[in-house]
Amino acid sequence: MLNPSPTSKTSEMSKTLKFRNVLITGASGGIGKALAEGFAAKGANLLLVARNESALKTLAAALEKKNPKIKAHVLALDLSKSDAASKLKHHCLEQNFSVDTLVNNAGYGVWGQFAELSLQEQLDCMQVNVTTLVQLTHEFIPMLKENASKGGASLMNVASTVAYQAMPTFAIYAASKSFVLSFTRALHHELKPFGIAVSTLVPGATESNFIERAGLQHTAEKAKKVTMTAESVAQIGIRGLEKNQIEAIAGGLNRMMAGATRFLPKSVLEHAAESIYRK
Ligand SMILES: NC(=O)c1ccc[n+]([C@@H]2O[C@H](COP(=O)([O-])OP(=O)(O)OC[C@H]3O[C@@H](n4cnc5c(N)ncnc54)[C@H](OP(=O)(O)O)[C@@H]3O)[C@@H](O)[C@H]2O)c1
Repeated sequence: MLNPSPTSKTSEMSKTLKFRNVLITGASGGIGKALAEGFAAKGANLLLVARNESALKTLAAALEKKNPKIKAHVLALDLSKSDAASKLKHHCLEQNFSVDTLVNNAGYGVWGQFAELSLQEQLDCMQVNVTTLVQLTHEFIPMLKENASKGGASLMNVASTVAYQAMPTFAIYAASKSFVLSFTRALHHELKPFGIAVSTLVPGATESNFIERAGLQHTAEKAKKVTMTAESVAQIGIRGLEKNQIEAIAGGLNRMMAGATRFLPKSVLEHAAESIYRK
């Protein structure tokens, strides 16, 4: 259905949204793990995806122990592979796991000068942060549409506050998150008539393995003062999805900074970013 009849589904949606079968990418740690805990506490069955199978299994066992009414399944998958999204869809069909909530959380950054970093490393990052996210979204929208009429369906994509500006020495990562933000905002409008809630979770600095994976250990001390817990960020994301918030920016300081990017000159913001990330 290309042009579904207009409805007041947005307000209905938030009242009826139930998380039944939630697929979360990047659930082996950090924000994804905290999202899994948050959705499990709401009674959702889960499919947890990442590469680290043992971390996923430990989390799944802990979640099932805490809430014996839910099932937490795991799938070890490398989302930097171009066929990852179709494999994941196939897995869900095979396992009869009908996804009503898709959470595209897996992602990471690579810090350094664009020209000096390996091209392949940066293309892999784009594959995980952008291409696989798009492929997964496309693969699962038909399932979300089916489930929207059976109690609600939703999509959460995880962007970042770096989405609001260019970031010298974090060029690919910031650009990838600008893509996620813009893409998700567009889908929010496109999928509203189908009764699918679509929200972008926009975290700022958050406790996780992110800094280490990105090679940003030298910023850890500076970031500490403004770092939020993964649990509080996940709660903001889940509430944002329940309210069908187009952007759920985590925390007052991050909301203020995001707002400031609308009126501060770009060159000022870009110089500031460069000095924050400099070694
Ligand atoms: N922490 C921050 O300060 C911050 C700020 C803004 C936005 N974010 C965003 O929040 C999201 C979660 O990051 P995090 O902070 O929780 O970092 P994290 O602790 O490093 O978690 C990243 C997750 O993504 C998964 N992942 C990475 N590469 C993957 C691959 N090739 N295939 C499958 N899974 C992969 C990791 O699992 P495996 O390693 O087991 O594969 C892990 O579960 C990311 O999209 C990140 O960009 C984070």
